[in-house]
Amino acid sequence: MRNRCTGHTPGGMLDGVPERIHEVTAFLAEVLAPRAPLTVIVDGGDHGAAASFAARLAEAFPASARAWTVDAVLGLSGPAGGRFDSALNVLEPAADRIFVYLRSGPRGKQLGNGEGERRAQVVIDHHDPQWPVIRHVHPRLADPERWYLTESRAFFGARAAGWDAKFGDDLPAYAMAVETAAPRPGDLALDVGCGTGRALPALAAAVGPQGRVVGLDLTPAMLQAARVAGRGGCADLLIGDARRLPFPDAVAGVVFAAGLVQHLPDPSVGLTELARVTRPGGKLMIFHPSGRAALAARHGRSVRPDEPLNRENLEPLMAKSGWRLTRYDDQDDYFLALAERVI
Ligand SMILES: C[S@@+](CC[C@H](N)C(=O)[O-])C[C@H]1O[C@@H](n2cnc3c(N)ncnc32)[C@H](O)[C@@H]1O
Repeated sequence: MRNRCTGHTPGGMLDGVPERIHEVTAFLAEVLAPRAPLTVIVDGGDHGAAASFAARLAEAFPASARAWTVDAVLGLSGPAGGRFDSALNVLEPAADRIFVYLRSGPRGKQLGNGEGERRAQVVIDHHDPQWPVIRHVHPRLADPERWYLTESRAFFGARAAGWDAKFGDDLPAYAMAVETAAPRPGDLALDVGCGTGRALPALAAAVGPQGRVVGLDLTPAMLQAARVAGRGGCADLLIGDARRLPFPDAVAGVVFAAGLVQHLPDPSVGLTELARVTRPGGKLMIFHPSGRAALAARHGRSVRPDEPLNRENLEPLMAKSGWRLTRYDDQDDYFLALAERVI
């Protein structure tokens, strides 16, 4: 996939179709075409938008892969009547059958409680049909290195400018999480995946004038929003990837990671890298300003047993990544998992 890592731009048009649609469909066609003959089923989404996305995807396929069928896409609707979501209720994914799930529509109305999305090999955020963004591709279809950076930036870049207006009320929750992580005066505190920097003022107050705070994020537009919000005054803001941090070993006293881990293609790689830069005894705070059930419900689904932040998954994941989980608290209005760096 072309690496256009510039965050959200208004986006050009190509033959009257938004370039972003071309980028996503061209990438999927490139990944899927070698597997032809193949049936690709576009599931989820609202009917018109799903049909239009399917047609664009079909167009992007090379002539040599014509065994791909759009008819299957257009023919499926399930018992719920006119919604594609139910395709996965009647068909199993198979080697020659790929499900592309479009996340869209009013939140809280995902049919099958998120089962369609869970079983799809490709998931696309399609809330804005002009700005589709890949959120998951089964690693057997494509190495995440081929799409993860570009698509994460496209996803968060589009949301950066409105982020604080939408979630700004959460600031006291961030202050509470920082207090619980208890950075020491003089510490280096890292906020990895800092977004607009909502935790940065509390981190800066905790480490004091002798300490240092760095906010690091993959998405340039998020850091720009952090600057606009004045958070560059209390922290250094760096572009970077949580999986390859630009810091030496064992320098940080506290690592703060809000809303990050669930977005990493392989959480154990990210957690191991966070451990590498943390001194023995240093802390990791994984945080979200809403509980996990409430967050899942906002996306119209329930918490799935395979999610990395489930306690029974997180405990061994932490242990193998250099951390010991010391507190796990999943309330309605916040989630936090605190861990200590072990050697
Ligand atoms: C859900 S947002 C949370 C932002 C902020 N921590 C907050 O709580 O408001 C996730 C953030 O993680 C960033 N992100 C995703 N993957 C990342 C990675 N591999 N390295 C660094 N940042 C990443 C995104 O750009 C986005 O700003």
